[in-house]
Amino acid sequence: MALEGRDLVSIFDLSDREIEAVFSLADEMSQHTRGRLHVANGRIMSTLFYEPSTRTRLSFEAAMLRLGGDVLSVADMGATSVAKGETIADTVRIVESYADVIVIRHPLEGSALVAADYASIPVINAGDGPHEHPTQTLLDLYTIRREKGKLRDVSVALVGDLRHGRTVHSLAFGLARFGAKVTCVGPPGLEMPPHLLARLEKEFGCVPAQFHSLSDIVTNAEMVKRRPGRQRALAAEVVSLFDAIYVTRVQKERFDSTQAYDAARNSYAITEELIKRALPDTLIMHPLPRVDELAYDVDRDPRAAYFRQAAYGVPVRMALVSMLLGLRSTKVGRARKGEYRPKSRHEVDFRKYADLLCPNARCVTNHESYLSPRFNFTDYAPGMVACAYCDHEVAAPKGMTSG
Ligand code: NCD
Repeated sequence: MALEGRDLVSIFDLSDREIEAVFSLADEMSQHTRGRLHVANGRIMSTLFYEPSTRTRLSFEAAMLRLGGDVLSVADMGATSVAKGETIADTVRIVESYADVIVIRHPLEGSALVAADYASIPVINAGDGPHEHPTQTLLDLYTIRREKGKLRDVSVALVGDLRHGRTVHSLAFGLARFGAKVTCVGPPGLEMPPHLLARLEKEFGCVPAQFHSLSDIVTNAEMVKRRPGRQRALAAEVVSLFDAIYVTRVQKERFDSTQAYDAARNSYAITEELIKRALPDTLIMHPLPRVDELAYDVDRDPRAAYFRQAAYGVPVRMALVSMLLGLRSTKVGRARKGEYRPKSRHEVDFRKYADLLCPNARCVTNHESYLSPRFNFTDYAPGMVACAYCDHEVAAPKGMTSG
């Protein structure tokens, strides 16, 4: 299926072949990250950022300008009619008449899906609360593929605030889909949410090993299982097992209290000392911004890939925008057997269950009153249904059927 006219709300909106097609075009776009191509002449991108951003917003805008298009943006969404109470639905229905593509970042989970439902032009999710950040996943996967030459069997540690970090939520699935080995290293209280682990296992057969710290000790048996051929040490630190270590900051803005944040910050840090014990070619990645969890000393190590990673954001977003706007007809290979393809979900006939609410206080359905909650049956949580907006689960009422 061509990408023209489509939305990118979740990493599940793209098939594996479509992601590979974005990467091939990004390879080509890497040659054009200076100067201007004139393929997007006359096209306008509107960036609606209701949350702070440096890299995502500027690299989207740089991508559109490098393609030859223009950008329509507001410095502060709080200075728009949002301050008067305008909803997401109304805002995007206005903006669609001014622009050809919308890039949205919003603190509520499911907000990008609302924008996509109401706008008739392509909508790209640049982060919806702690839920998803699919374009960051594209550039993260692209970084590993470019620097390691492949994704299959690459062993990746996701380290840090795995509970609230939207980048790692989308990335875990991206890695699993391309056959990488995923390990979760989350300090107590910041572990990967159980519903994501259940889905990784049921839909992709991926069962991440879990540790609380990169300094945990693994036994020889575990080590051989994770990195066959590396049998030298009888026991080793977890840090010695990975081809890539992907670090994230503690997501301060997602905590309910400053006390809870203070207890979590400083619970982990990547230092020069620690990475001395990593492999000589381990990539150190980070979506940035960093706070206290990644020492500046690490920057001078050639394994530090995070600034290169941020730079790949431009060609990857140039490729994505070109494809969604139909500026380039790109060949998407045929799906291989068993690989992920976007599926239609078995949606519950929610009209019959109007009193069923999403249990997630940060779900957009609990904030924008014109929305009706919607739920899907899933393959990974028997007896439960998942919110179509934020994926949080709720027990299916007795007799509930798909609509
Ligand atoms: C991330 C985000 O906004 O989720 N930043 C980014 O887009 N590069 C990570 C973060 O804020 O910690």
